[in-house]
Amino acid sequence: MIKFSKNNINPSDLNVVNKILHSGWLTHGKYTNLFENELSKFTKAKYAVTVSSCTAALHLSCLAAGFKKGDEVLVPAQTHTATAHAVEYTGAKAVFVDTENLSGNISYDKFVKKITKRTKGVIVVHMAGYPCDLKKIIKFCKQRKIKLIEDCAHALGSRVDKKHVGNFGISGCFSFYPTKQITTGEGGALVTNSKKIYQKIKILKAFGIDKDITQRKKPGEYDVKFLGLNYRMTDFQAALGYLQLKRYSSNLKRRHQIAKRYIYNFRRNKNIKYMPYSKDCSFFIFQIFTNQRNNLIKFLKEKKIQFSIHYANPLNKMTYYKKKYNLNNKSYKNAVNYSSTSISLPVYPKLKNKEVDYICKIINRFYLNEK
Ligand SMILES: Cc1ncc(COP(=O)(O)O)c(C=O)c1O
Repeated sequence: MIKFSKNNINPSDLNVVNKILHSGWLTHGKYTNLFENELSKFTKAKYAVTVSSCTAALHLSCLAAGFKKGDEVLVPAQTHTATAHAVEYTGAKAVFVDTENLSGNISYDKFVKKITKRTKGVIVVHMAGYPCDLKKIIKFCKQRKIKLIEDCAHALGSRVDKKHVGNFGISGCFSFYPTKQITTGEGGALVTNSKKIYQKIKILKAFGIDKDITQRKKPGEYDVKFLGLNYRMTDFQAALGYLQLKRYSSNLKRRHQIAKRYIYNFRRNKNIKYMPYSKDCSFFIFQIFTNQRNNLIKFLKEKKIQFSIHYANPLNKMTYYKKKYNLNNKSYKNAVNYSSTSISLPVYPKLKNKEVDYICKIINRFYLNEK
């Protein structure tokens, strides 16, 4: 069986987790600071904050942006539901925008058409790690005072113009879910270059309490000025994230080798489509697009190759959103096409060259037999 995902946790990481568990200091400790500092160093963002998930990072970003009832925030129709939910938690309305044909990233032309007087923000998603074409979106947002949030759940290591993603709007939100490039079980983080946003989010992620544990003169001596949440990450999770991030450059290098190998092996296969190689992509997964998905999926299962689909339904088809906003498929043709033709193939450092070659051989053979 070739697995869709294998994490990059080492036995030595587990020794550190073990020590933390035995130390009794399990949350907001030394490793939380170390992980946040390492994230800020890696992304070159001024500030980083660990949280309990990317969903939490997105929610906090929407709160810090000030989105509220009556506001509209644009999100791509093709994304994880967390991107839109984060907007809706604040009372604002998630407005869906169709995506580009192959990248699955938000389409600038369609984004502009959805702008109204109520538009207060946009969340872009760097789908599968392919960085969005941000230039025009950034310019438009600046002119119209629209707040830009980057959903970087797939994009640890992705760049736009040599700058790490997450640095282009008010914040960038990362996920450390088990299938992601680095994992803390559940977990996430956000980066920002704004001191104001950073300070607000630090408070909002911990109940709205104004003093963290190191700033209190007496235990329990603090004030609560906002209706905050508990979105903290534990210290043993932070240690896992920190240790994996420290060696992430070799993980990322291997991802690029694997992506190049898929592209080389598929070079004569005219039945599938995929994005061209990009040195700026983090290669969370390698996606192929096919009109024969159901049969190909069956074949992959028979050959014991695991895969995934990101995502089998765009958000305009999800009952909650479809009913609430009376959505149809016509306005989201590219997103619908993307979700009905894509297959996500595995990319992770432990995936061997011979496994990549086998996956490609099976997929190429499928089309020979189909003819
Ligand atoms: C694009 C995108 N955004 C947000 C999330 C939510 O991440 P988390 O599971 O860390 O909350 C995911 C989950 O995989 C995702 O794919």
